[in-house]
Amino acid sequence: MKSLKIIGGNHLSGDVIIDGAKNSALPIIAASLLCEESVLSNIPNITDVLKMLDILKIIGCEYKIKNKKVIINSSGLKSNVLDNSLISDIRGSYYLMGVLINIFDSLTINYPGGCKIGDRPINFHLDGFKQLGIEVKEEENQIQISKKEILGGKITLPKSSVGATINLIFASVKCKGVTVIENASIEPEVEDVISFLNLMGAKISWIDNKVVEIRGVTKLNNVEFKIKPDRIEAGTYAVIGALFGEVRLFNVNIHDMKSTLNVLEELGCEISYNDNILKIKRKELKKVDIVTNPYPGFPTDLQQPFTVVLTKVGGSVTDNIFNNRFSNCLEINKMNGDIAISDDSISIKPTKLKGTKVKANNLRGGMSLVLAGLIAEGETTVENIEIIERGYPNFINKLLKLGAKII
Ligand code: EPU
Repeated sequence: MKSLKIIGGNHLSGDVIIDGAKNSALPIIAASLLCEESVLSNIPNITDVLKMLDILKIIGCEYKIKNKKVIINSSGLKSNVLDNSLISDIRGSYYLMGVLINIFDSLTINYPGGCKIGDRPINFHLDGFKQLGIEVKEEENQIQISKKEILGGKITLPKSSVGATINLIFASVKCKGVTVIENASIEPEVEDVISFLNLMGAKISWIDNKVVEIRGVTKLNNVEFKIKPDRIEAGTYAVIGALFGEVRLFNVNIHDMKSTLNVLEELGCEISYNDNILKIKRKELKKVDIVTNPYPGFPTDLQQPFTVVLTKVGGSVTDNIFNNRFSNCLEINKMNGDIAISDDSISIKPTKLKGTKVKANNLRGGMSLVLAGLIAEGETTVENIEIIERGYPNFINKLLKLGAKII
C-alpha cells in the first residue's frame, strides 16, 4: 500500500492542464475492438486505462502508447478468454460484454470491480441484453452471454445509468434491426462514446429527450478520435481555487460543467472562461447545500472533493446516485472534521482541519483526503493512494506544480 505525506498550509496557485476523461476513455478503448485500428488522443495516464489496455492485449490486440496517444490494433484479436482478475479490478470492464458479443457468439466474464460507493448492480445491462435477443446466464461470480443474432429492440431503463446506456449501445451497434433506449443517460461521456462510434460509421442519434436510437450497421471503420476533457478532473482542481484563492485550468470544456460552475459561483467564486481556459477566483466563501443528480445535475463524482470546501463554511450534500459515497467523511472527521452522516446525505459544520493518518477508500474520496491534507494544520498521511492513481493522471506532480508540499 502506497502512501503520501502532505505538509498542510502551503499556499497553492497557478495552472493545471486537464487530461482526457476517464469515463470516456474506458468505453472507447473497449469499443476499439470493433475496428482494425484506432488512434486515440488525449488519453489520461491512469492505471484503469492501462489495465483496460492489458485486458485487450491478452485477447490478442496490440497497442502503443506515447504522449497521451494510443494506437490500438485489433487485427490479431483471437480469443474470448478474458483475464478475470483484471476484469474484477476495474468497473469499465463491463463494457467488454457489449463490445465482444458483436465479435464472438458467446463470452464468460467476471463481474466488474470499481470503487465501493454503494450498491452497483448491473441488472439494467443484463436485462437490456436479454431484450436485444442475447442470452444471459448468471453464476456465482461470472456471467455467460451468448447470441445467435442480435435483433435490436426497445429498452426502457428503470433509472438512467451511464454504464447500461453505453453497454446497450455497444451491443446494438451492429444489430439486425433498430434499438431504442428510453431514459438513457445523457452524460457528456455517453455523448463522447456516440461521437466515436458514429465516426466509425455507426448510426446512432437522439430522437427525443433521453431517447437514443441505434440503427444496426454491418461494418465499422478505422478511426482517429480525441477524448474529451475530463469534467470531473477539472471540477476537482477547481476546488483548489475555492480553497486557496485562484487557479487556472487549461484544456477544459465548460459546456459540460454548468452545474459544477453554478455551485462554485454559489460558494462565492468568480468564473471566467476563454479559449478552453477556465479561471476560478474565490471572493468570500459561502455555505452551500449540494444535491447530486444525473447529468445535467451536479455530478456525484464531485461531491467528495467539494465536501472539503464545505469544511470551511458548512453546508450539506445529498447524493441521489449512490447510497454509500460518504466513507471519506469518516476519515475527514479523524482530521477534526465535523460531518454528520445520515443515509443519503451529510451535514457539515465548519472546523479547522488538523493533519493525521487517513486512508483512501475510493477514487474521488481519496482525492478529497488529499485536498483536506492541503488545507489542514500540520502533517497528513494519506494511505492507499493507488486508488487515486486509478483515475487522476499525475495528480502528485500537478499538485506539486501548484505549490503543494508533498513527500
Ligand atoms: N444502477 C442499477 N443497475 C444497473 C446500473 C446502475 O441499479 O444495472 C444504479 C446504480 O446503482 C446507481 C445508478 O443506477 O444508483 C447510476 O449508476 P450508473 O450505472 O450511471 O453508474 P456506473 O455506470 O456504474 C459511471 C461511472 C462512475 C459515475 C457514475 C455516475 C464509469 C466507469 N463509472 O458508473 O464513475 O459515478 O457513472 O455518473 O464510467 C468515478 O469516476 O469515480 C465513478 C465512480
